[in-house]
Amino acid sequence: MIIRNDALPGKFTLYLRRLYYFFTNERFSKKFDYDWHKKSSRFDIINRIIEKKKFESYLEIGCQSDVNFSKIIIKNKIGVDPQSGGTHRMTSDDFFKQNKSTFDLIFIDGLHVYEQVLKDIENSLKVLNENGVILIHDCLPAKIWHQTIPQTHSSWNGDVWKSIVKSRTRIDIDTYTIQADQGLGLILKRKNKDLLVDKIENFKNLKFRDYYIHHKKFMRIIDENDVLRIIN
Ligand SMILES: C[S@@+](CC[C@H](N)C(=O)[O-])C[C@H]1O[C@@H](n2cnc3c(N)ncnc32)[C@H](O)[C@@H]1O
Repeated sequence: MIIRNDALPGKFTLYLRRLYYFFTNERFSKKFDYDWHKKSSRFDIINRIIEKKKFESYLEIGCQSDVNFSKIIIKNKIGVDPQSGGTHRMTSDDFFKQNKSTFDLIFIDGLHVYEQVLKDIENSLKVLNENGVILIHDCLPAKIWHQTIPQTHSSWNGDVWKSIVKSRTRIDIDTYTIQADQGLGLILKRKNKDLLVDKIENFKNLKFRDYYIHHKKFMRIIDENDVLRIIN
């Protein structure tokens, strides 16, 4: 998501971080021209899935001001955020430690850092109902500055995309990326139908250049109109 919050460092700090990243990490200027306004929003896609699958339980990790959480139409919903929004004021790790519920749909949109997203995916898989769906926000950054750690731009997706690449190499889950609303990762608890076999030593060390060149294969990008057929 395009994150703008009070904790965002000032413009000068972001600029200095970009310079540092440029000289110490990666230089790459090509970018994607995603026009998310022409696509459905995350809550439209989530509600469509809920309606089609007759889902009854929903968990959202990272709610902020409930822009998404408040629009989800479902019988039972839980929202977890240490700062604001949702129903539970705690981190996702603390939530999963004490949680006894299971869920039909889990939307991961908390801390946008590869290692934390991996943990959120792992914990979500443990409490996902049979035939349930995991969605992950911010999987398709348009340019290098949108995916740096730490944040170097006011528009920031973090390096969530690397957790999708890692998931694509697992045989026990089936992972896709919906081309809508900053990229919505989609994980189903079933055999991987298109295993990513590339030998990647360290997913965290993947570069934006790798993503730019291999994004179709890495992310397994699908059109939003194909989602309901794929999850069936
Ligand atoms: C991008 S916002 C969520 C936006 C919301 N899902 C939406 O679609 O409107 C990310 C939120 O994640 C929360 N967050 C950060 N670290 C977290 C963690 N470890 N566990 C859960 N939430 C976290 C932040 O407080 C922030 O409110």
